[in-house]
Parts: sequence; structure tokens; C-alpha cells
Amino acid sequence: MPSTLLSPLGQKTLSKTTMQFRDDVLRGLNSPTKAIPSKYFYDQRGSLLFDQICELEEYYPTRTETSIMKHSARMIAACIGTHSRLVEYGSGSSLKTRILLDQLTELDSYLPIDISREHLHATANDLSVEYPNHVIQPIVGDFTKPINLPKTSSPQTKTCIYFPGSTIGNFTHDEASELLHSMRTTAGERGSLLIGFDLHKDKCILEAAYNDREGVTARFNLNVLSRINRELDADIVVENFEHNAIFNEQAGRIEMRLRSLCNQSIRIDDHFFHINEGDEVLTEYSHKYTVEGFTTMADQAGWSCRGVWYDPQRYFAVMYLEA
Ligand code: SAH
Ligand code: AVI
Repeated sequence: MPSTLLSPLGQKTLSKTTMQFRDDVLRGLNSPTKAIPSKYFYDQRGSLLFDQICELEEYYPTRTETSIMKHSARMIAACIGTHSRLVEYGSGSSLKTRILLDQLTELDSYLPIDISREHLHATANDLSVEYPNHVIQPIVGDFTKPINLPKTSSPQTKTCIYFPGSTIGNFTHDEASELLHSMRTTAGERGSLLIGFDLHKDKCILEAAYNDREGVTARFNLNVLSRINRELDADIVVENFEHNAIFNEQAGRIEMRLRSLCNQSIRIDDHFFHINEGDEVLTEYSHKYTVEGFTTMADQAGWSCRGVWYDPQRYFAVMYLEA
């Protein structure tokens, strides 16, 4: 059970993670460019909505990365080698991981890390039934914070960090560099990194992927407001906001926002915010890379590229790097 703390009001007890959520949301809404960190999309409902996004016709990243993995899994598994442990950052439903697990028969252990507690535990339970010969050790946590991995079973065991899905794209370039540095420390001297990232492409394809016809991405974006209502004693009228996602060509990223449809006042706990019609709250960046740009950034963080795999359209890349 998470520890509980008294909120500043002293009226109720909040878990440490809820306190952090509350602080981040209040800080984000008080800043000149209103923002809510994208990691808060992922409560139980958010994780399910993300899984639905992955099935959408417009959302090419998941099926493209899956096809790369299916095509090259054997070669990738050979790079990872035997007696390795696979540590996955932001594992979600571990869908692409299953392609790897099928090949990594002599894996030491699989450690999925995710911030979405219930979803992680449900996925880990499924995996332990599907892979009875693998050791599965789920870790609930925020990978942008220091992570204490359990000791390896033998000094020979190498750590491979798996970071699929282009989740690296949800960080600014400075944050991504810092994350690559910290992964380098976590993986250790003989460690490796297998990472999937989305590539630059036509603006129409990109904008369609984040503005699907069924409105699933809109529901995913708006869910963060429902989550604030549910967890932080807030009274936001979710229908007073709309989903907005555009490609910023100069910055090479999709920018996702929630736009206010009217002049309104929202309350979160005992804090009030006035929001005008047309005001926007930034909820997510999704950066698109070039292989050259990504290799340079990784190199500066102490990673050397040893292999890269693409789909025929070069929409997406999967890169294997060593420390
Ligand atoms: N890797 C999966 C899921 C990608 S969605 C795939 O490729 O399909 C991003 C995942 O990262 C979600 O499951 C979310 O809960 C998790 N996540 C996002 N930010 C996180 C953070 N800071 N720490 C831990 N997990 C995080
Ligand atoms: C998890 N992440 C890489 C997704 C992305 O494409 O940036 C999240 C997402 N946001 C909207 N659709 C999907």
C-alpha cells in the first residue's frame, strides 16, 4: 500500500503519489504556459484508452513497430544475448515485448516498469501465465525518478533496457538526453538499450494519427481532467474543453492541448483558476526524430548504436545500443 500523508489542508489523507499529482497539476496550471505532465494520462482508464489508440487505423506507430519487431526479433534477440535481464520502461500492455520474450528463451528475468499500477499488475499476471518459464518482476514507479532495481541473480547477468513505443518522444530534447544518461547508469557498464522511436514524416499522416475519426485520442486527452476530478477533489466540467493536436514543424513534434470552450472558473481542492475561452493547456509533446539526430543524442549520453531496423516506409525505427 502507498504511504499516506496529510494534505496541507489537513482535511484528508492523500497518498504520496496523489500529493505529487496534486503539486504537479497546481504548478502546471499556475505557470505562464499552462501544462499538465503527460505521464498523468495513465490511470486505469487512460491505459485502456491508450490500448484502443494502438488499434486505430490512423495511429501507425504501434502496428509499424510491431511489424519491425516481428520481422527482426531473432536478430535483435541475438544482440541482447543470453543471461540478460530485460528492464522495460513504460511497459503498458507489454504487447511488443511478447515478440521478444518468445525469442529470449534464456532470459534471466523481465522487469516491466510502469506508473499505471493496476494496468501493470494485470499485465504482469497475464504474462506469468503465458510465460511460466520466465521470471516476471513488475515495478510500479516513475522512470524519470531514480529506480532501485533488484540485484541480478548472478554477476554475469547483463541489463538490457527496453523502451519501445516512441515514449522517448514525449520528452523535450533536454529531458530525453537526461533520461538516456540515467538509463546508461541504470544499465551499467555492460548494459544495452533497445529503443523504438518515431521518424519525421508527412504532416497530414502525423496530424491524422493524433486526431482520429472515432475520437479515442480526444477521450484519452480529456481523461486527464476526469482523473483530476476523481483524485484531487476538483469540479472541472470536462465538456467545457476540447482536444487539439497539431504538428509543430519547426520543433518537429505533435503538440497536444486541451482548449477551453468558454470563460470558466475551475476549482481544484482549495485552488481556483480562471480560464478564458480559447485558452489552452499543454498536455503532451510527441517528438519525431531522424536516425542521425537520435544517434547523436544517444552518443552524447554514452550509448553507441550497434544496429537499427526500419519498416519499408521508414515511418519508425528500432535501435539497439551498447553502453
Ligand atoms: N510501451 C508500450 C506503452 C507505451 S504508452 C507500447 O509501446 O505500446 C506509455 C507507457 O508509459 C504507459 O503505459 C504509461 O503508463 C507509461 N509511463 C508514462 N510515463 C511514465 C513514467 N514517467 N514512469 C513510468 N511509466 C510511465
Ligand atoms: C506513449 N506515446 C508515445 C504516445 C505518442 O504517440 O506520443 C501517446 C499518445 N498520445 C496520443 N496518442 C498517443
